[in-house]
Amino acid sequence: MAEVTVQRYDGPDAAGMCEAFLPAYREVYAEPPYREGPDDVAEFVEMFARQATRPGFRVALARDGAELVGFTYGFCLPEDTGWWHNLLAPAPAEFTAESGWRTFAVIELAVRRPWRRGGVARRLHAALLAGLPVERVTLTVRPEPEAAPARAAYTRWGYRRVGRSQPGDDSPVYDAMVLDLG
Ligand SMILES: CC(C)(COP(=O)(O)OP(=O)(O)OC[C@H]1O[C@@H](n2cnc3c(N)ncnc32)[C@H](O)[C@@H]1OP(=O)(O)O)[C@@H](O)C(=O)NCCC(=O)NCCS
Repeated sequence: MAEVTVQRYDGPDAAGMCEAFLPAYREVYAEPPYREGPDDVAEFVEMFARQATRPGFRVALARDGAELVGFTYGFCLPEDTGWWHNLLAPAPAEFTAESGWRTFAVIELAVRRPWRRGGVARRLHAALLAGLPVERVTLTVRPEPEAAPARAAYTRWGYRRVGRSQPGDDSPVYDAMVLDLG
């Protein structure tokens, strides 16, 4: 295994990166508890294209030589975000208020199985957030036992659970987490 390198892309450069990490997306999210198939992947590609136009949009990719081994991306929540409306127990307005630059949302973070437990996710996460002028970071994570590595990583990096979140009537329920920055 060569040394893994991590690179971040911002704005339009980031928007063009879907193709580069899509095979890794397909591989990782075929695993439980996600079990995504071709329809889910197609839906993801459409969602990524919409999200890629958001302010603060950025992607970080990890490569082992030329091989794509991990990815993460996110964007800043806009003032009119529906993000906090997904919480199953409503939170106070001072918590959910957004300015456009208060909160960065991490949408995906994944590392292919053979490259796990080597700090690749930690480096991807650090590269994604580096220099962001926001107060806090939020993400959602599945509560099933198979997602325990992700929950362990987020807790280790300082995230706290703020409630349960469901982005749509047909979607699974997630744990919503927040990391307060410095
Ligand atoms: C979650 C995931 C990205 C972690 O990637 P990784 O490169 O193995 O993570 P790292 O090596 O940087 O580990 C970061 C921390 O996570 C924790 N961690 C990671 N895997 C763990 C495991 N299997 N068991 C317990 N803790 C674990 C550790 O605390 C670790 O820090 P430490 O080893 O320094 O103590 C990876 O397991 C993955 O892609 N899972 C499938 C996709 C997924 O669930 N993504 C999250 C969607 S919300």
